[in-house]
Amino acid sequence: MATNQQIVLAALPQGRLTADAFQLLESPMPAPGAGEVLTRTRLLSIDAANRAWMQGATYRGALGAGQVMDGFTLAEVVKSNDPGFAPGDIVEADNGWQQFAVHPAGRLTRVTVRGELSHHLSVLGVTGLTAYFGLLDIGRPEPGETVLVSAAAGATGNVVGQIAKLHGCRVVGVASSADKCAFLTEQLGFDAAVPHRDENFRGLLKAATPDGVDVYFDNVGGDVLGAALWRMNQHGRIVCCGVVSQYDTSDPAPGPRGVPGLLVTKRLRMEGFIVMDHFGPDGAARAKAEETLAGWVAAGQLRVVEDGVDGLERAPAALIDLLAGGNLGKRFVRVT
Ligand SMILES: NC(=O)c1ccc[n+]([C@@H]2O[C@H](COP(=O)([O-])OP(=O)(O)OC[C@H]3O[C@@H](n4cnc5c(N)ncnc54)[C@H](OP(=O)(O)O)[C@@H]3O)[C@@H](O)[C@H]2O)c1
Repeated sequence: MATNQQIVLAALPQGRLTADAFQLLESPMPAPGAGEVLTRTRLLSIDAANRAWMQGATYRGALGAGQVMDGFTLAEVVKSNDPGFAPGDIVEADNGWQQFAVHPAGRLTRVTVRGELSHHLSVLGVTGLTAYFGLLDIGRPEPGETVLVSAAAGATGNVVGQIAKLHGCRVVGVASSADKCAFLTEQLGFDAAVPHRDENFRGLLKAATPDGVDVYFDNVGGDVLGAALWRMNQHGRIVCCGVVSQYDTSDPAPGPRGVPGLLVTKRLRMEGFIVMDHFGPDGAARAKAEETLAGWVAAGQLRVVEDGVDGLERAPAALIDLLAGGNLGKRFVRVT
């Protein structure tokens, strides 16, 4: 009988995530019922938020011990009991960390593949759309303004910085290592990059932002947000995209000093968002954004930065490593 390789979250992590939180299992192949579709996972997205889901309910339900690890995937239809899908179709599906999954047809979104399939996880997928809507709808940068972005060499951050450059902004990235900082300035056209693990981070940030910061795209929260707040210009905008620095722990730190005091004195707007809210009721805004991003890629104006690894069994290590800053660009697993 055909089997389904799965990675189960065996236990919720206490403290930092380690490989023993996961267990590789073989289960019977699921069979689709009426109106259902059997899909095979092609690409599994590895997201910083995967760890946040283990901390409790977020914009989605909390993960529990014993369940197949949740994860966003691009999958291929294997068998369909719904007239809307046929074998070979590529769909967006929450398959989780497993080879095969069955879904009601209504839970699948068809993908019209253009170019590399992986681009639909990175620049044309949720990652690129998060950068696009977060920066343009929430940050609203003007040409000539300074945009600061954290986790700048990561999946979301590198796209934010590149879009900000396309909008005529001065762009400063924050990343952990000298190598990542060099990549941002030498390969992606950032104007400056600052290493957040340097003990003089605040001094380096000040030197890199002589005219202050108008838009801070915050992927990490914590100390980097604390430092950025003091560099904000009057009427600046802080785009709260995520809080990576507080994900890999059972004891997240409170928000930084300066909230709300600096928001008042500098007249700042600090606003969170969830990307799906910006797709529009009929997905039209998403389609338009995807078209724009694809145009920039085709014109060579937006570089696609991807970090793929092979084999479902490597998903736990891929996530643990991402949380420690081991990725460059969009990380995903090719599930074969
Ligand atoms: N709001 C939304 O709708 C939405 C949608 C998608 C993603 N997100 C958010 O976007 C952010 C980026 O997620 P991603 O999946 O694209 O991951 P990513 O940026 O590719 O990877 C996470 C990065 O976080 C950095 N990092 C880890 N610990 C840190 C710390 N203590 N301080 C500073 N930086 C740290 C690491 O880069 P360094 O090596 O540079 O430290 C690492 O590469 C997350 O906050 C995620 O929750 C939000």
